Amino acid sequence: NYMKDDHVSQETKNLISSLPSGKDFVGVDIHNYKGCWYYPNLLQAVLDVQKHFKPRDTDIIMASLPKGGTTWLKSLVFAVVHRDEYRENPQIHPLLSQNPHDLVPFLEVELYADSKAPDLAKFPSPMIFSTHIHLQALREATKKASRPCKIVYVCRGIKDTFVSGWHYRNKLHRTKLDQSTFELMFDGYCKGYVVYGPYWEHVLSYWKGSLEDKENVLFMRYEEMLEEPRVQVKRLAEFLNCPFTKEEEQSGSVDEILKLCSLRNLSNLEVNQNGTTRIGVDSQLFFRKGEVGDWKNHLTPHMAKTVDEIVECKLRGSGLIF
Ligand code: A3P
Repeated sequence: NYMKDDHVSQETKNLISSLPSGKDFVGVDIHNYKGCWYYPNLLQAVLDVQKHFKPRDTDIIMASLPKGGTTWLKSLVFAVVHRDEYRENPQIHPLLSQNPHDLVPFLEVELYADSKAPDLAKFPSPMIFSTHIHLQALREATKKASRPCKIVYVCRGIKDTFVSGWHYRNKLHRTKLDQSTFELMFDGYCKGYVVYGPYWEHVLSYWKGSLEDKENVLFMRYEEMLEEPRVQVKRLAEFLNCPFTKEEEQSGSVDEILKLCSLRNLSNLEVNQNGTTRIGVDSQLFFRKGEVGDWKNHLTPHMAKTVDEIVECKLRGSGLIF
């Protein structure tokens, strides 16, 4: 739906006509607004977020690129922040009966999509929101807050993010697109013509943000979360001002959260096997392999080299290395 233009106001139509335009890999129009590519309805939603969303002091925003580890980080942030509430009764934990996307709603894809004007006051505090927009665009909204709110970003290597997106797209449309379409999509990704992209602008915005404002912007990496999950979850909790106590660590609280949020556990739950999220996506589509390096099964060495060189060049001097 966000690819269409039926929710675009006249003002946004005028704006769009002045923006650089391009096409995504299947030929749908995308528009570049302040360095990032959007479909028309999505751009309208982003503008609405910028204009109307004002985070409360206690709100937490979780940001990512699509297929960058969003579902996992949503579950982890939720589980960490709300851990005291379910300590006595772990069997009623919301993550057991709801998909992480329904516990941590997207700003532009859900709450402000389709020209909706959500009543944010109804949400309990602390509330966790999520977004795929890059940090400069998000700042237009967060700068309205009386105090900076916490922003957690998850970054995943471009090749696995791309391959994950390919599988997701195929499953979403219940088609297996052919090899030439795969190559077209790859080409678009490398050129940066991809919704919410270019990839490197996105990761750089949060990377720089995290260097400039360590207290309020946390940059996490999917690969590090897989490699050293305990360290990373503790880092997350510290950042969110709710560090694990010694007693919690000794009683296995960190491991319980990791187990609850593991791909194996979440993907086997009834709600995630047969449910549909509020944004209308089959819950099971958010879970697949969850590995590092699956790109090797899909990209040729030449494709891998091409995209690695592009990313390296774009990130040069930033201190962010893959
Ligand atoms: P793969 O397609 O490589 O398996 P997003 O959540 O941003 O949509 O990203 C989806 C990717 O994250 C998929 O990657 C999916 O398998 C993986 N994923 C989902 N839940 C996960 C979890 N709990 N732990 C680790 N990876 C997870």
